[in-house]
Amino acid sequence: KKKRLYFLSKERLESGREVENKTEEEVSIIKVSSLTCIDLDNSDLHQSAVLLKQACLDSGFFYVINHGISEELKDEAFEHSKKFFALPLEEKMKVLRNEKYRGYAPFHDSLLDPENQVRGDYKEGFTIGFEGSKDGPHWDKPFHIPNIWPNPDVLPGWRETMEKYYQEALRVCKSIAKIMALALDLDVDYFNTPEMLGNPIADMVLFHYEGKSDPSKGIYACGAHSDFGMMSLLATDGVMGLQICKDKDVKPQKWEYIPSIKGAYIVNLGDLLERWSNGYFKSTLHRVLGNGQDRYSIPFFLKPSHDCIIECLPTCQSENNLPKYPAIKCSTYISQRYKAVHAHLKQT
Ligand code: OGA
Ligand code: NI
Repeated sequence: KKKRLYFLSKERLESGREVENKTEEEVSIIKVSSLTCIDLDNSDLHQSAVLLKQACLDSGFFYVINHGISEELKDEAFEHSKKFFALPLEEKMKVLRNEKYRGYAPFHDSLLDPENQVRGDYKEGFTIGFEGSKDGPHWDKPFHIPNIWPNPDVLPGWRETMEKYYQEALRVCKSIAKIMALALDLDVDYFNTPEMLGNPIADMVLFHYEGKSDPSKGIYACGAHSDFGMMSLLATDGVMGLQICKDKDVKPQKWEYIPSIKGAYIVNLGDLLERWSNGYFKSTLHRVLGNGQDRYSIPFFLKPSHDCIIECLPTCQSENNLPKYPAIKCSTYISQRYKAVHAHLKQT
């Protein structure tokens, strides 16, 4: 088998020119995608909504800039993340994920694409979720259990940084939700109510990827999947690896790299929003290929509150376009999806 290697030059990256890639088993075109950029500082929300709508119909992926999260805070979160993963395995295992997946997830813990992967993802992670207030009505909900934290003597200031970053990521998601509501012809605050996003099921995950992926052998840093929730806000350390497939039914599948842009976040829609919008907005297939370098990322996965009923949005249905999916409680839907990703663990 002939192997040809191509380097993605800066010019090619910027022009988004197609790069031929005839390595491994598939003959496919590797392309660097250029995504719409939404300026969250733009006071004309309706203008942003037009852009966002197009992005959601086209690829379900876009960038946000002027989000108000300082580079310092983001860098600090990445530094702390690296320190955690550099700890001896024994120390990391002290905060092993609990039954709601909070805490440390070792390599190969999740398997996102069982059809194509021979093993779980080549990544380790650490999950921090939503806690709610102790005396609030949501304290005992299954997805609102307390977080677990590494020993502060081992990693001083770690928890404080992560909690701060978590709050900031949630704030940004809520401001994107306003533009999203307008893009769906809903009231600007449609999603920003106590019932919907007031006590969200929201996870921030620190990831550390390792190794070189080889699709021909079924080895992926992160297998092909679409996210479960409403939207995901992603920061990476800039190491290339994330790819999207805009049309999963076209064979052979065409994968495009999504480069990270300094100061910008990558946002993508999840299956729950696709379902909520009656299939109108797209939740796009994506994956991560490792290039041999270590890679760190911090996605923030937003889902609505536990009891929020996900049923076809009023503006996404008509006489000729009836709801395609039955109503489902958010927590029920999310539980099902989590279980599927970890199903392989029970067999080993
Ligand atoms: C995910 C994901 C991308 C990345 O965890 O769902 O798509 O770059 N992550 O880590
Ligand atoms: Ni994802």
